[in-house]
Amino acid sequence: HNPSQVPGLPLAFHGTVIHSKELNELEILENCFLLVDNSGQIQSLQANVASDQINSMISALGYAPDVFPVKYLQRGQFLCPGFVDTHNHAPQFAQRGVGRGISLLDWLNEVTFAHEAKFADPEYAKGMYTRCVTGFLQQGITTASYYASLHGPATKILADVCFDKGQRALVGKCNMNRNSPDWYRDSSVQDSLHQTREVIQHIQQIDPESTLVKPVITPRFAISCESELLQGLGVIAKEHPELPIQTHFNEARQEIEFTLQLFPEHRTETELYKSFGLLNERSILAHCIYLKEEEIQEIKQLRCGVAHCPISNTTMDAFMVAPIREYLRRGIKVGLGTDSGGGHSASMLEIMRQAFVVSIAQQEATKGQDPALSLAEGFYLATLGGAQVCGLDAKVGNFAVGKEFDALEIHTIEIEGRGVMTPVEEEDTIPVIFEKWVMTGDDRNIAKVYVRGRSVKA
Ligand code: GUN
Ligand code: FE
Repeated sequence: HNPSQVPGLPLAFHGTVIHSKELNELEILENCFLLVDNSGQIQSLQANVASDQINSMISALGYAPDVFPVKYLQRGQFLCPGFVDTHNHAPQFAQRGVGRGISLLDWLNEVTFAHEAKFADPEYAKGMYTRCVTGFLQQGITTASYYASLHGPATKILADVCFDKGQRALVGKCNMNRNSPDWYRDSSVQDSLHQTREVIQHIQQIDPESTLVKPVITPRFAISCESELLQGLGVIAKEHPELPIQTHFNEARQEIEFTLQLFPEHRTETELYKSFGLLNERSILAHCIYLKEEEIQEIKQLRCGVAHCPISNTTMDAFMVAPIREYLRRGIKVGLGTDSGGGHSASMLEIMRQAFVVSIAQQEATKGQDPALSLAEGFYLATLGGAQVCGLDAKVGNFAVGKEFDALEIHTIEIEGRGVMTPVEEEDTIPVIFEKWVMTGDDRNIAKVYVRGRSVKA
């Protein structure tokens, strides 16, 4: 077997591996041997392997002995899949935490548009996007679906940064040509569509196989887009059946009311977006709070995915809870989103915790009809569920053999000089250690982050 061409590959581990197989099936593999090949794919995953069997397993896989070291994970350490953030506004990275407590439309006008407008400057974009991507990788977010600003050049820069830093990403120029200040609005439908095509072309040029980055068609929401713009984006979506589509969907009462005033010919947002060819199995619909029964049936039938963003839904001017249990019951794809910066946190652990909190609120509101999310379900949404929503579950989301190695190496036990976050006691079982990490851990526990086998955490 040839020695590795890619630095750091192949990679081999021995120890505890934790991942989701199904919504309700968290698999914990002990004494697991995991091997990542030269291309960053998982070549072998086998539990209950004794240390003295490893060398013969490696040679059985066709590698010369001692070509690469095996990393032995200790007690309190484990591998899990990287997090998938299904909804993230890269140009809002620096405004997280600012302006909570106000309505969505006020927050856009008073806080957000001014921040995003700064990305007209490519120098500024390069600096802030570098901090953004580095910051999210630090949090173990190995895949993000990004809304960029409306600027084509800055959007290309975001894609370049993701590619260079090694983050798997969907990157979309935000389309918006009305209902924002004239200093932050696409100048025309034509220009908006033209820049979108240019961004698509650029991303497909830097990463023709979509190994890491892929364009995503990104109408901000219908309030921001005239009919002709939505129609033009529908045409692009049809021309590019390989590309995902993302938008904000039924996020707030005020937003839905205004949308239906703007489009009196439609009774629901589902009808509206569908009429422009923007709802299908590639659609990533952020929020989905107030869907009518007919809309739930329709998005299920159209196989749209839901990006659940529980922090941003509960820190504006209302406590808004998406009926996630109902979506899951119907087999609708669901993932989690930071919605950074409408959501203040860049941590998928915190998003999971808030998903648990709002699911308890929903359980109460439905008098137990919609049971709260379990730990395993929350973790599934943060990993494999998100990968499904982004159309990437054939590649990532768990450690099935043949998938690419997007992974976190978690150290729950004290790391010298970095403090004790998750004290592990002698009697703790692995499920308890895992639960402690999910509920109390933070990025200091994320010792390593891998995307396609490449180590990407600073
Ligand atoms: N709706 C339109 N734009 C936005 C945005 O930037 N964030 C959120 N959360 N909702 C939106
Ligand atoms: Fe958002």
